[in-house]
Amino acid sequence: MIKFILNNAAIATSLPPGMVLLDFVRYHQHLTGTKVGCNEGDCGACTMLVGELKDNELRYRSLTSCLTPLGNVHGKHVVTIEGLNMEGLNPIQQAMYDESATQCGFCTPGFVVSLAGFCLSGQSATPQNAIAAVDGNICRCTGYKSIERAAVKVAQLMQARQDTEPVSFVSDNHILPDWFAGIKQRLHLLRTELNGQLHPTDAREWVSGGTDVYVKKHDIMKETPIRFLFNDSNLKGISQQGNRCIIGAAATVTDLYESPIMQQHFPRLADHIKLVSSTPIRNIATVGGNLINASPIGDLTIFLLALDATLVFTNDEQQRELPLRQLYKGYKKLDRQADEQLAAVSFELPGRNMHFNFEKVSKRTNLDIASVNSACCCVIENEQIRDIRISAGGVAPVPKLLEQTNAFLKGQPVNDTTINQAITIAQSEITPISDARGTEAYKRLLLGQLIKAHFMMVSQNSVH
Ligand SMILES: Cc1cc2nc3c(=O)[nH]c(=O)nc-3n(C[C@H](O)[C@H](O)[C@H](O)COP(=O)(O)OP(=O)(O)OC[C@H]3O[C@@H](n4cnc5c(N)ncnc54)[C@H](O)[C@@H]3O)c2cc1C
Ligand code: FES
Ligand code: FES
Repeated sequence: MIKFILNNAAIATSLPPGMVLLDFVRYHQHLTGTKVGCNEGDCGACTMLVGELKDNELRYRSLTSCLTPLGNVHGKHVVTIEGLNMEGLNPIQQAMYDESATQCGFCTPGFVVSLAGFCLSGQSATPQNAIAAVDGNICRCTGYKSIERAAVKVAQLMQARQDTEPVSFVSDNHILPDWFAGIKQRLHLLRTELNGQLHPTDAREWVSGGTDVYVKKHDIMKETPIRFLFNDSNLKGISQQGNRCIIGAAATVTDLYESPIMQQHFPRLADHIKLVSSTPIRNIATVGGNLINASPIGDLTIFLLALDATLVFTNDEQQRELPLRQLYKGYKKLDRQADEQLAAVSFELPGRNMHFNFEKVSKRTNLDIASVNSACCCVIENEQIRDIRISAGGVAPVPKLLEQTNAFLKGQPVNDTTINQAITIAQSEITPISDARGTEAYKRLLLGQLIKAHFMMVSQNSVH
């Protein structure tokens, strides 16, 4: 039985744990304020919030309910647009109204929920953060300037918060309903009542964040016995051991973004991570899912290939380590047994003189997967390349480490001749195909440009 709190109501349901939250809320709870748009995580019409206890803090994140199975909200607090309603318009709805930020209204619940997510997230109350909170919401008729103005007003509402817990602040200041203040206590009680994970013995599918599985197999997942990985505490966390960073396979892209270890060692982390999907997808998309779905353009895969990451796989009998560069054997073919779970990923943290850069070109700036992406990790000493790993996606059937290019570059001086020779070698080891994301020729051109961009960034970093 799945148990959680939906707005202010306790839910206990025997419906299949693989059913998506959106369908449960609309068709079984008859709360139809949340809209169904694309059903693929792209439009944000279905945005809901999920609150959970982390180290005794109540933490809320937005997510796309069209891709989230009920099993992933077991023991948590789910908030829909109905749960944000107060006697009159709440101040977020009022800001949308005052700024004429709604026209047909289909997208509006999603925008309001995302902005409520910003209020509850604990982020600093800047206009930029409020606007970024709606990067997963699409409006086809109003125009975004009025929505941005409403977001700025919402940021102003939160400016007096200082160190107050976000939930207390929004309920005390009548930004959201006052029953939010009692949710933490109710989640503590729910946690003691539940006994851990849902692990059907006949599981046919493994699901972590679900952002890949539910796009591909939306219609069959409801009836499929699922092993849920997303809430498994053994797969969570980002830690440092010596000079290595260890990332649990169920850590999300947002967890990476918020990790002090990652922030310390990757000064441009925020710029890199913002290129990956949108806020509600980053809140649920996991590192493990990105690596195992084996997309040739997976952003985190390209990131981690350049860092020469090592994977830890486990099954009932054993644990084994495998360099990430050896995982991909062909298009979506992995060196992995069906019963092997990816437990963690580790890599050496960049030290002094080590430069890291990530570049991505896609058809849209936000919320799009790459035409070509590339990462570069290099050590430069006395203007010579001592060590380098450049990876590239969208240029081969697998996420690719450019081994011949990297071998050539080691020991070379950093100058235009070296870079042009490296680009020529890179062209000989890639096999891009023409598809919806660009022609073969365009992707070849892009990779050359991205290699130049890596060296421009390295030179800038070396100067400062
Ligand atoms: C709207 C949208 C935008 C997106 N944008 C981007 C983008 O910009 N960049 C990008 O790289 N990707 C993007 N994606 C793809 C996807 O979100 C990512 O690849 C994500 O990291 C997948 O993680 P997940 O936890 O959701 O995977 P899931 O769907 O849960 O799982 C994917 C696969 O991995 C397996 N798996 C997951 N965890 C484990 C584990 N620990 N051990 C063994 N097997 C495991 C599952 O069984 C499944 O086969 C986007 C997806 C959507 C829907
Ligand atoms: S319905 Fe479009 S993101 Fe869920
Ligand atoms: S108001 Fe019509 S889609 Fe946004």
